[in-house]
Amino acid sequence: MKITVVGAGAVGASCAEYIAIKNFASEVVLLDIKEGYAEGKAMDLMQTASLNGFDTKITGITSDYSVTAGSDIAVITSGIPRKPGMTREELIGINAGIVKSVSSSLIEHSPNVILIVVSNPMDTMTYLVHKTTDLPKNKIIGMGGALDSARFKYRLAEAMQAPISDIDGMVIGGHSDKGMVPLASHATRNSIRVSEFLSMERLEQVVADTKVGGATLTGLLGTSAWYAPGAAVSAMAQAIACDQKKMFPCSSFLEGEYDLNDICIGVPVILGKNGIERIVDIPLSDAEKAKMQESAVGVTKTNGLLEL
Ligand code: 2OP
Repeated sequence: MKITVVGAGAVGASCAEYIAIKNFASEVVLLDIKEGYAEGKAMDLMQTASLNGFDTKITGITSDYSVTAGSDIAVITSGIPRKPGMTREELIGINAGIVKSVSSSLIEHSPNVILIVVSNPMDTMTYLVHKTTDLPKNKIIGMGGALDSARFKYRLAEAMQAPISDIDGMVIGGHSDKGMVPLASHATRNSIRVSEFLSMERLEQVVADTKVGGATLTGLLGTSAWYAPGAAVSAMAQAIACDQKKMFPCSSFLEGEYDLNDICIGVPVILGKNGIERIVDIPLSDAEKAKMQESAVGVTKTNGLLEL
């Protein structure tokens, strides 16, 4: 199993590290355009191998996509991260050109690759890859919901003073501060609805905190987060690599599902060796359906900024 990560910045390096530590890939190639940067990060990570107990071979390369040839999975993290006060959507001007070029170079050397798109605005970048490459829709997967769901579970556990391992919850919709749809009605603590433990007001605060989870960290860190994004990517890559048939909310190209068409947006999917094995239709309340439609309006508006 060969996995390429494009972008050796904080998110990309975290992706590579967590994938390596989980030991399900034989090789990880870390690629960046900054001379020597990916090589340095790869060497530093390889020097943790004996300490962290993995056999994954991590290779760093500057700009030479031939080294990525034959990748089964590729992760696109390249582009600029947001600064405090910025929205993800404001990154489109620079990141669209980068993602278009990177996806083309990856597919040229690995025609059967499964792409995981991380660069923001992620739903629109995922849509861009659909519109500018010939990859089938099951092989183009946007990473946003897995991260947002992890933040949702964190906030739920915090509110209930519960262990996160007791919590289940999912966030669908656009990966944007306003467009996320945390499914509070479905969230549970050890199979019990969280509404049995939290007041409506407290649950609404959990939802609000979840939606700005990324912006909160950008305000604290001065740049986008990287640990949880990297962990989310590694969980998705493992589900694909190990054909786990695990369900994640992922940005997927819709053709009628959830009453949406010609859009990439976060919906529950089963991830396995074919990438998106299938999209899962789950029951939504009228309010959740309305929020999903509203979220789609925002994503479609951002898609309109693309020069396709
Ligand atoms: C986040 O929410 C980078 O969009 C990513 O942290």
